[in-house]
Amino acid sequence: TASTEIDIKSLVRTIPDYPKPGIMFRDVTTLFGHPSGFRASVEQLVAPFQDQRVESVAGIEARGFILGGAAADRMHCGFVPIRKKGKLPAKAIGQEYELEYGVDVIEIHEDALSPGEPVLLVDDLIATGGTAVAAVELLRQLKAEVVGAAFVIDLPDLGGSARLTELGVPCHTLMAFE
Ligand code: PRP
Ligand code: HPA
Repeated sequence: TASTEIDIKSLVRTIPDYPKPGIMFRDVTTLFGHPSGFRASVEQLVAPFQDQRVESVAGIEARGFILGGAAADRMHCGFVPIRKKGKLPAKAIGQEYELEYGVDVIEIHEDALSPGEPVLLVDDLIATGGTAVAAVELLRQLKAEVVGAAFVIDLPDLGGSARLTELGVPCHTLMAFE
């Protein structure tokens, strides 16, 4: 398969000092733009969950839509968007999460998932985990069963993947950067 042939970490581009001085920004557009790189990423992302019952993939705006859509197709699941505030057309519930300065809100349609529905959460990267923890709270508010969370990139020093594990959400990541 594509997964065994390619070093996906080498396809992530690092942009120093973006969006501000001192930040090393891990840019996945180069990975997603590479045909076998993108395919291998999606394959590896869903691999631990292929033998589990998953009915929906929930992806977080914006880069989680790209991976989550492909992951849902591969797993023969539906796709559910978790969006930044004010973007969803039907009735939605929201959850605040911390940014470096201030707070933001993500939302999900209140009828997007059924009680007990097994769902996999997908995003490109987990850093502090603020976004992913808020997403898990939304999914659990809808009484969905969060079977796991999958990210291409972990920044483990920022603690997000450990926070998810503490919440009882198995956290699968494909690579780590300091
Ligand atoms: C990035 C990334 C995750 C989140 C991770 O999204 O795609 O969603 O930050 O950070 P955290 O673990 O500290 O919450 P961003 O907020 O840049 O939004 P965007 O995808 O809409 O650009
Ligand atoms: N890349 C993309 N998104 C991010 C990063 C990064 O390095 N850090 C926090 N969110």
